[in-house]
Amino acid sequence: MLDPLPTSTLKPDVPRHIGIIMDGNGRWAAARNLPRLEGHRRGGERLIEIVDACIDLGVSTLTVFAFSAENWKRPPEEISGLFKLGEWILRAHLARLERRNVRLRAIGDLSAMPDFIRRPLTDVIESSKHNTAFTLVVALNYGARQEIVRAAQAIAEDTAAGKIDPTKVDWSTVESRLSTAGMPDPDLIIRTSGEFRLSNFLLLQSAYAEIVFSTVFWPDFTKEQLQLALTEFGKRERRFGMTREQIQATPTA
Ligand code: IPE
Ligand code: IPE
Ligand code: MG
Repeated sequence: MLDPLPTSTLKPDVPRHIGIIMDGNGRWAAARNLPRLEGHRRGGERLIEIVDACIDLGVSTLTVFAFSAENWKRPPEEISGLFKLGEWILRAHLARLERRNVRLRAIGDLSAMPDFIRRPLTDVIESSKHNTAFTLVVALNYGARQEIVRAAQAIAEDTAAGKIDPTKVDWSTVESRLSTAGMPDPDLIIRTSGEFRLSNFLLLQSAYAEIVFSTVFWPDFTKEQLQLALTEFGKRERRFGMTREQIQATPTA
């Protein structure tokens, strides 16, 4: 598609926060007559490469959708295989995370996760909390609708307890009760595998995110593919409800 904007107005800036819906592991494996779990394993390797690439590019936060609240509907062997793989990846790359000064965070309901993954994960979240170079957020048993329901419950409880005035409820009241409280909103959401949907990922936080869909299956999403997504992001004009003239008159921060 032809770009209607003159090059001078294109913003090649690197997004501060990228969210990735890492999709297509199963189809990648099926296309090679391999078990689905092999696709997940290769997807895990790709994640390590993409984390490194994001750090090198100067991105500050990466949120990856690793397991959705709806993924419990999958066959139990696939679920347990995924969790074992997640625990293995964490253990294998712990030193690397530390060396690169990465802070690990998680969003989603970890309480439903098996102990063997929840314990090491919460340990690393705690031990890395002062790391400053980069934040890697793992969305695990995460669903945006579940997240908003929990925020609504918390607001209702605080209102009933007289801690907040219902007429004063605003976006900051809601935002501070989401699992992403304190994080910048994603600037760019990437979904791989040629699916054009968000599947309950960061629905509120993505209100003004640019969305890039890649047809590549996640295990094939190399750092060159990431660069293509960033180039696409750089071509977008983010207007946040304003006019193009207003945006062009605004000095870039
Ligand atoms: C994404 O790949 C990984 C998870 C959802 C855990 P899929 O497993 O959804 O792969 P496809 O979509 O079946 O190809
Ligand atoms: C979204 O992928 C969840 C993750 C990538 C973890 P799915 O494969 O579960 O999404 P749907 O079911 O195709 O929408
Ligand atoms: Mg999928």
